[in-house]
Amino acid sequence: MLRGLLTTPSKSACGLLDIESLDRAEIEAILERARYFQPAPGETYRRLETLRGKMIVNLFFEASTRTRVSFEIAERRLGADTVSIAAQTSSVSKGESLVDTLNTLVAMRPDAIVMRHSASGAPHFLARHLQIPIINAGDGTHEHPTQALLDARTILDRGKSLEGLRVAIIGDIAHSRVARSNVHLLSRFGADIVLCGPPSLVPRELENLAPGVRLAYDMKEALRNADVIMMLRVQLERQHEAPMSAGEYFRFYGLRLEHLALAKSDVIVMHPGPINRGRELSSDVADSQRSVILNQVENGVAVRMAVLERILP
Ligand code: NCD
Repeated sequence: MLRGLLTTPSKSACGLLDIESLDRAEIEAILERARYFQPAPGETYRRLETLRGKMIVNLFFEASTRTRVSFEIAERRLGADTVSIAAQTSSVSKGESLVDTLNTLVAMRPDAIVMRHSASGAPHFLARHLQIPIINAGDGTHEHPTQALLDARTILDRGKSLEGLRVAIIGDIAHSRVARSNVHLLSRFGADIVLCGPPSLVPRELENLAPGVRLAYDMKEALRNADVIMMLRVQLERQHEAPMSAGEYFRFYGLRLEHLALAKSDVIVMHPGPINRGRELSSDVADSQRSVILNQVENGVAVRMAVLERILP
């Protein structure tokens, strides 16, 4: 039970907690602004002064490489000051509770907190109690809103439209906040979404997640005519039952070059990372012309700049 936050409950400051509560116009505005921040080919991100004087705390209670670095770069490119804390190196490892850690940080008056936490709903809880904007950088198995936004930006960059887009999301859907955020975003635009993976990782109730979603347990069926293939990592850290071996998983749900022929000829292959070659996809797919995995990483900075600019007054 989380109790005793320093500030009294009040109308929460506007941050970004999930995609589910965003409407289409808000999503479009962020994606459009992210396009403005994208550097020209061969150039780097411009350094702006938009958030000069703002202090942003990045609080990561779970492992992260790309999301954390991407937020830090976005914050600095906008001229903000940043402090990043990993739970392993903070007083959390000395037994301090989440509430005490947050009270301590809030007492130092940051302007926003970017937070990743293993508990679904942790950033929502914070947002209800703190008067500063909270950006969700991934909460348990719930949502990862900036990932879905950067994925959408990457799809649009390839000249595809989100309306009527056929997307196959393949892997450990049950534990994936990336899948959930993507489903909410893509369904806002009328995409046709197939969720595919082993039955233990794609429970039936996921069909009700949003309009336009169907389930498939056969990978070939899911890939047919796909415009976008989104592969997901098997989240071993969130699975309680004995997992399939990497080899067995790869045999049934690993993406290989020959699979791409089932999809549209201009299909793109996405993965939020970190990728496990030989489990979720083969190396030749990961490194192929169809793969946009590094474009996703690149777009993370532009999208996070757009989100930060929007939430910080
Ligand atoms: C994802 C995450 O942490 O939810 N990674 C990321 O942020 N790019 C996906 C994963 O860990 O598999």
